Amino acid sequence: MNFTWPELLDKFNSWMDEAKNAYENCYKKCPEFFSSGEILPHAFNLSTVSTDNRPSSRVVLMKDINLEGLSFYTNYDSLKGLDLIENTQSSAVFFWPTHSRQIRIRGNANRVTRQESENYWGTRHKISQISGSISPQGKEIKSYQWIEEASEKFKIENPGPISCPKNWGGYRVSVLEIEFWQGHFHRLHNRELYSRPSIASLFRKSILAP
Ligand SMILES: Cc1cc2nc3c(=O)[nH]c(=O)nc-3n(C[C@H](O)[C@H](O)[C@H](O)COP(=O)(O)O)c2cc1C
Repeated sequence: MNFTWPELLDKFNSWMDEAKNAYENCYKKCPEFFSSGEILPHAFNLSTVSTDNRPSSRVVLMKDINLEGLSFYTNYDSLKGLDLIENTQSSAVFFWPTHSRQIRIRGNANRVTRQESENYWGTRHKISQISGSISPQGKEIKSYQWIEEASEKFKIENPGPISCPKNWGGYRVSVLEIEFWQGHFHRLHNRELYSRPSIASLFRKSILAP
């Protein structure tokens, strides 16, 4: 049976909503458990691969998921940014222990338009804008104190609006594969994989052994 991306997007969104509700309930019961004061059901592990075939993984935040794909924002000069110049193939996984669920995604990550990045930048908190402006993400720095001082200095020197740095912006992963994984007792997990050869095609569903 074949599926369209909007159909799968609905399923993604319903799992995301359920995770969000569960996280909010957990937060109400035990706020001290969330040290940053934030619940992050939209945090996911993103993997990229370098030109010498070395994979790297890190957690980032999903900004949005829509008909075009899944977007996140970062520093274009970071390790992930450098990997994605030569090899746009990426892999993402969300894990929600509250429901014993994961969603795995594979697809090509390409930069969003400059206008989109600037629009999102404009909605970000000033502290995030300062960090995004001064942090040479992933590069070696003298000390943690150095970055704290650089942040303070930038804040004093830039009391007005802060423009979006040229090396900061978004990527959108156009989804070629998405797997919905529902954990069950006795390890008989339910795995539904939907894959398509290109973004112009429909997704074919297959059930994978757990
Ligand atoms: C919960 C969480 C959310 C994060 N969100 C982002 C994000 O949206 N963008 C980003 O660039 N880094 C984010 N980070 C930091 C990344 O994990 C990583 O340290 C950074 O992007 C540098 O990765 P790289 O050197 O592999 O490119 C987040 C980390 C955590 C733990």
